Amino acid sequence: MRKKLVIGNWKLHGSLLENQALLNRLKQELHDIEGVDAAVCLPYVYLYQAQAALQDSTIAWGAQNVSQFTEGAYTSCISAQMVAEFGCTYTIVGHSERRALKLESNQVATKRLLNALHAGLTPIFCVGETLDERDGGMAELIVRNQMLNVVYGLDSQAFALAKKLNMVIAYEPVWAIGTGEHASPEQAQRMHAFIRMMIAERDREFSEQIRIVYGGSMAPQNAESLLSMPDIDGGLLGRAALVAEDFIDTCRIASHCWQQQRQLHAQAAAPAVIV
Ligand code: 13P
Repeated sequence: MRKKLVIGNWKLHGSLLENQALLNRLKQELHDIEGVDAAVCLPYVYLYQAQAALQDSTIAWGAQNVSQFTEGAYTSCISAQMVAEFGCTYTIVGHSERRALKLESNQVATKRLLNALHAGLTPIFCVGETLDERDGGMAELIVRNQMLNVVYGLDSQAFALAKKLNMVIAYEPVWAIGTGEHASPEQAQRMHAFIRMMIAERDREFSEQIRIVYGGSMAPQNAESLLSMPDIDGGLLGRAALVAEDFIDTCRIASHCWQQQRQLHAQAAAPAVIV
């Protein structure tokens, strides 16, 4: 059964002092959480700090992006290989805040994803529609377009790497990010099932294994309804990841949902008793 995955995307937040307090709390409170992988994606300059603070913990860490280039005269770019040197497990790729700055077309996002895979990082590939696109009935079409390169564009070697490294997809409806308004559990479940179906078109086995997480105003108040859905395997949290209690509570709720789903699976798998 797929474990839940709760990732904090710290975005442009943090300071050495604040980070240390937050990382220490997460480390203390989440060391024995069952059925949940927890991770934080921090600004590049704090990766060394995260590595020092978390290397003997169960919490993974990662970057928020990697360059589409591997080396060369590209001022300010950070390569996947560099990020990997700091013990990162993950990197986010294709976040809508990057796409909105026009720095990230689907092609560029795919290039970054490939670089992440070749550096041994697990990409968290973000997709999601804007409000206009949803209102226009185009949500699935947009997400399908964003997913096309990942599903069909990767050659068999890269796809095998994505499978081996457990690539993650994050469904983040743009209208739900930072607004306090989250997708309803039914809306999110429908899109997650759609994404899983797309992956199954290429590889059925991977479609069962891949974790598809939800992002967009997820918080302890709405986490249970979202994380109880069969295809919602975790969360990518922005604001709620900056408050220790909120992130910890969301991880605990994820663990509770995982335990319930495990029970349901066990019941479904148990042989029928004939009387
Ligand atoms: P919020 O949780 O603040 O809506 O941010 C979500 C997000 O963009 C995570 O990548």
